[in-house]
Amino acid sequence: MTGKVVVNRCMSLDGFIAGPGHSMDWGNGRALADFVAPEDFAAIAAATGAMLVGRRTWEVGERMAAEQPGSIDYPFAGPMFLLTHRPLEPANPAVTILSGDTGAAVATALTAAGGKDLEILGADVAGQCLQRGLVDEILVYVLPVLLGDGVPFSPPGLTRTALEPLGSTRSGDATILRFRVPPPAGPTG
Ligand SMILES: NC(=O)c1ccc[n+]([C@@H]2O[C@H](COP(=O)([O-])OP(=O)(O)OC[C@H]3O[C@@H](n4cnc5c(N)ncnc54)[C@H](OP(=O)(O)O)[C@@H]3O)[C@@H](O)[C@H]2O)c1
Repeated sequence: MTGKVVVNRCMSLDGFIAGPGHSMDWGNGRALADFVAPEDFAAIAAATGAMLVGRRTWEVGERMAAEQPGSIDYPFAGPMFLLTHRPLEPANPAVTILSGDTGAAVATALTAAGGKDLEILGADVAGQCLQRGLVDEILVYVLPVLLGDGVPFSPPGLTRTALEPLGSTRSGDATILRFRVPPPAGPTG
């Protein structure tokens, strides 16, 4: 059995997945886990078998871990794949570095997920995956805040993509939205 490729995001109501300067402070120092019901957070993490992370997301995570130890509290301990053109310094044996074709990276990480879902982290990486029709689902935690500026959900240039709503639920102070991404239409004629 193969898991799904899921773009999993928390997002301000005005569509930003991070604030200016890649800040992940969603108000008064609150992190995602402070908004979502713990059982929902745990269930979504339990469905995840691997993560594919863009280099900038990785660096923001490293910065958060250094500045506020314990601020990254996602209950996940499976295989991590980092998409980057540069080595990690110092090297980190807990993460596999991938480079080059994003489709091949998704296939590698999905296999490692062992039948569970693969989470795609990073706006640029998610945009590439959406553009290439590699994403099965989008899961968004909408947080009750307007940021006004920051990193948008997807980078400019993504073509219009019709989505199929799967569900919307209130979870703590967040609203969880799920959408299926239909496969790209094949050639006509
Ligand atoms: N709210 C949320 O749930 C959430 C989740 C995830 C991320 N974020 C935020 O999103 C922001 C980061 O997103 P982003 O769009 O700026 O960057 P990103 O997608 O995290 O990383 C992009 C970088 O990954 C590397 N990369 C991408 N594709 C590659 C490929 N095929 N081969 C090799 N390397 C590749 C490149 O880095 P190099 O060329 O430098 O190696 C590229 O510049 C951060 O602010 C983060 O906090 C928010």
